[in-house]
Amino acid sequence: MKRRDFLIGGLGVTAGASAVSFAPFALGQMMIGQRAYYQPSFALQDFALPVLDEGSTVQGKQVFKLVLQSGESRILPNINTPTIGINQNFLAPVLRFKKNQTVRMEVTNKLGEAAALHWHGMVLPATQDGGPHQAIKPGDTWVAEWQVINEPATYFYHSHTHNHTADQVWRGLGGQMQIVDEDRDAQLGIPHQYGVDDFPVIITDRAFNKSGTFYYSNTRMQKMQGMHGNVILVNGAANSVLKPKKSLIRLRLHNASNARFYHLHFSDNRPFQLVATDGGLLEQPQTLNYIHLAPAERADIIVDVSDGKTLSLQNKKGYGNLNTGMMSMMGGNSDLDSNFDLFHIDASKAGKVAAFNTTKLVSLPDWSNVDIATTRRLQLDMQMGPTMMFGSGGFAINKNEYDMNVINEVAKANTFEIWELHNPSITHHPIHVHNTQFRILDRNGRPPYSWENGLKDTVTVYTDEKVRILVPTGPYKDAKMPYMYHCHILEHEDAGMMGQFTVT
Ligand code: C2O
Ligand code: CU
Ligand code: CU
Repeated sequence: MKRRDFLIGGLGVTAGASAVSFAPFALGQMMIGQRAYYQPSFALQDFALPVLDEGSTVQGKQVFKLVLQSGESRILPNINTPTIGINQNFLAPVLRFKKNQTVRMEVTNKLGEAAALHWHGMVLPATQDGGPHQAIKPGDTWVAEWQVINEPATYFYHSHTHNHTADQVWRGLGGQMQIVDEDRDAQLGIPHQYGVDDFPVIITDRAFNKSGTFYYSNTRMQKMQGMHGNVILVNGAANSVLKPKKSLIRLRLHNASNARFYHLHFSDNRPFQLVATDGGLLEQPQTLNYIHLAPAERADIIVDVSDGKTLSLQNKKGYGNLNTGMMSMMGGNSDLDSNFDLFHIDASKAGKVAAFNTTKLVSLPDWSNVDIATTRRLQLDMQMGPTMMFGSGGFAINKNEYDMNVINEVAKANTFEIWELHNPSITHHPIHVHNTQFRILDRNGRPPYSWENGLKDTVTVYTDEKVRILVPTGPYKDAKMPYMYHCHILEHEDAGMMGQFTVT
């Protein structure tokens, strides 16, 4: 095996020489002006497959019983971490259901704090959305029910608690939802057997104190960067190895991190095929050898491992690199952007199955000539100067910090709108709009990236960029209850880079 370089806290650790040997996981992150994180080292462990929950059918509805709970989890090698989760101590089961089903989510809050649980990516009535207005008090049960009109794809459910989304997600309140159509996948040759050839890859990064507790900081600098960690987890486990039994696998890449952007590729740079993004299948598979994934973005990829080799999914420097320019001048973390492994694949036991050759997946509706009801301009603000460095304010959209009592925008149901997202600030912002799956029209007048040609609910707006998206407003009307739109760097969201809109 070739010698590879990894940034391990200045220790100069590199991969060993044995046949199946991978670099340790912890990234070195020296916090300037703050203490360094605990630097654990992890032995290889088995790939963590989340519990699958398909609900139970009660009177024609798919019913899911979800309990928000707290406890301890073994994430680090030798010590437990106090965590929160859904039906488990840390993170959550994968919820699987089908289009056209009516799902009923019975969410009981057994935490000692209020929490809201949001169904990210779903088109549904605003009262069922699980945003900050649907907070569940400790001890209470909240029921959300809706008919699934979204397309089959990989979705996200997570805390959306007023001012506490970031720290609750960090402690564990988030998981993956999948809308599946196994018959259609079978026809298209797309792997779809959960845990056999279809795997969630829920990516989070965390930082720890030596005592095993999570490290979380809410300083001004930390807010600006968003909270990053030096331990990379896939489905809650560090340094894991997937040993697939089949040579064609689907990975549902899902960035569930608070703030970290990933630039993903395989260690041998092998190509893979992107078949779906946030809200559904692409028209045609895209052959790629890397993809960018901002916080909250999902990408279903198909990887051919019929060569039986061992490989790693890696992050490569050079994307979302908040360490350049202004951020580093102001003393920001200089090491947010580095090379590291996320998890490994050992394909030596993979039985050969047919390769993936499908060239046409679906036809997306043609929106090229739809009437545009409104064009909205949204400017992402991070105020410079003293307010930014020392104040609490400064994170806003169109100069307005999030206020639960203010409706910022009003849209008309069953129409299309163009939203122009403009980012004059010093960091990139992944912008998410609730209750819609949109299309990306352009970035500074140029076409979107090749992996952005499908249905999306989150789009990164880079520094100095203007991104235009085409937003269907959906069928649900409610003059009072708003939906959210916000930056999915959760520290930015909590700090005020969020607005609300109603659909009437
Ligand atoms: Cu993923 Cu408003 O959230
Ligand atoms: Cu959402
Ligand atoms: Cu942001």
